[in-house]
Amino acid sequence: MEISTLDPKLQALVKAAVDVKNNAYCPYSNFRVGASVLCSDGSIYAGCNVENASYGLCVCAERNAVMKAVSEGKKNFTAAAVSCDIKGDFKGPCGVCRQVFAEFNLDIELYLTKPDMTYKKVVLKDLLPMAFTPQSLEEERI
Ligand code: THU
Repeated sequence: MEISTLDPKLQALVKAAVDVKNNAYCPYSNFRVGASVLCSDGSIYAGCNVENASYGLCVCAERNAVMKAVSEGKKNFTAAAVSCDIKGDFKGPCGVCRQVFAEFNLDIELYLTKPDMTYKKVVLKDLLPMAFTPQSLEEERI
């Protein structure tokens, strides 16, 4: 599907993910990623991947977008967009970032985008079956 067919707010969400990808700090992987989250109040926060010479400290774009939003007091996310430079298949967020999204909304809609400005919409819970969420901690235990 073409991004131009989305409603304007979602187009803005995708544009934020695409634009912030220009700030990706990825000298080790040379793999740029941009992500953005849409909050229930209409605000949008974007983040890029930030790598480190100590490779294990690399932080994904999705998590940086979430951390920025939460740091500004926003945690009701309705949608997120992810942009990378892969031309072929749509790419979903890594497993760690799926879990971070799940902390806030297992029903969040993810707009996976390609450089040709097409998108695929998926729902997080379909990417993270049997998810462990904050509610899991409230369930009856022995
Ligand atoms: N990366 C992301 O930013 N998001 C993902 O969902 C997968 C991977 C980043 C981490 C690293 O900087 C680079 O892409 C290559 O793994």
